[in-house]
Amino acid sequence: MNHDNLNPLAGKKILLCVTGSVAAYKSCDVIRTLRKDGATVQVAMTSAAEKFIGVATLAALTGNDVITTMFPKSPKAGLEHIELSMTMDALVVLPATANILGKAANGVADDLVSSLLAVCEQPTLFAPAMNYKMWENPATMQAVATLRQRGKLVLDPESGYLASLHEGAGRLPKLTVIMNAIRELFEVPLPLKGKRVLVMAGPTREPIDPVRYISNRSSGKMGFALAESARDMGADVYLVTGPVGLPDPAEMTLQKVKTVSEMLQAVQQELANNEYDFIFMAAAPADYTVTEPSTQKIKRQSSNLQLTLSAAPDILKTMRPKANATVIAFALETENGESEAQRKMTDKGADFIVLNYANKPGEGFDSSTNQVTVFTKNGDKFHISKDRKDRVGKKIIEIVLSNRP
Ligand SMILES: Cc1cc2nc3c(=O)[nH]c(=O)nc-3n(C[C@H](O)[C@H](O)[C@H](O)COP(=O)(O)O)c2cc1C
Repeated sequence: MNHDNLNPLAGKKILLCVTGSVAAYKSCDVIRTLRKDGATVQVAMTSAAEKFIGVATLAALTGNDVITTMFPKSPKAGLEHIELSMTMDALVVLPATANILGKAANGVADDLVSSLLAVCEQPTLFAPAMNYKMWENPATMQAVATLRQRGKLVLDPESGYLASLHEGAGRLPKLTVIMNAIRELFEVPLPLKGKRVLVMAGPTREPIDPVRYISNRSSGKMGFALAESARDMGADVYLVTGPVGLPDPAEMTLQKVKTVSEMLQAVQQELANNEYDFIFMAAAPADYTVTEPSTQKIKRQSSNLQLTLSAAPDILKTMRPKANATVIAFALETENGESEAQRKMTDKGADFIVLNYANKPGEGFDSSTNQVTVFTKNGDKFHISKDRKDRVGKKIIEIVLSNRP
């Protein structure tokens, strides 16, 4: 999905300093996500880091030269690396070893990365990864406290199994936490930080026989836009989607389903395991399924074919009593939109309902734009005029956040 002027990281230049930890390979995911979000990434790495990940990989992923030494074989005029680092908007040290934390806290500048850190005054983030004994070492703790005192952002490592198979605090924080921290470096507001958001998107396919199905024209674009906007506002997002032709969005958990009963099961299981703050039902699950799908391909015949359909489970109605979340439902109508939307909001126990039309050009299904009206349980309504679905997604969330019960 194209984010251009929506994305706060577009056009930002980030110097990624990779140091010598087993977690160095995880910098690849961060680079890809930053670039997808429009940032330019330049890597500087320590010689220990080169033992863990190849320069060629980082150069390929960033599309930029990788700086590995202060003393190249044929030095260019001036202080090239220092000058380059000055043009950066932020520094991210990822993974950050105990060694680099100690050096940065104490002003040691005896190699490329530590010298860059000593020179740069730009916002700086450290994402530590190490054995838990190294993290708990008082020297490391002291270094972290000093860096934080000086206004540097140092993430806490996550707990779990470490490369040594020991359990403890030392794992590199997960991608969502890292990306939120980078957004914070740029002072991007994160109103959904710490919130869990469940989004359902796309159509379902109900089998007629092994090769045919009943489906609808839902493209999943609105649901994906909501999931990506929620993620960009700091949420931990779980996206359940029917079959769509969209690329997998980054930094969220994605569960792909085909039928309405699979979608229901996925949602029920997720709600049994986790509490959610917001649920967006932007999917178009089938209202009817074929009562007895054929196990063999139905042959062409000259007489008419009759299919018997049964009512499909109503996902929203089924899960509503089990969820404490704020629920945002969607109504796609062709006529009597407002009264239908109000009826659905009450019937399904939703807190908000977003009305859009299926039969207007540039709106509803299978379109990249949409025009919607958001109704609240308290009787308020907000119109969002026709715009790209990603921008509409963001506006819907903003309305929900300022009008939540
Ligand atoms: C297999 C292996 C794994 C290592 N993993 C880590 C690690 O995860 N975190 C860490 O702080 N140091 C780790 N070290 C130690 C660092 O690589 C070592 O302290 C090095 O001097 C760090 O240099 P740098 O900070 O300049 O990259 C590891 C060493 C080895 C041999």
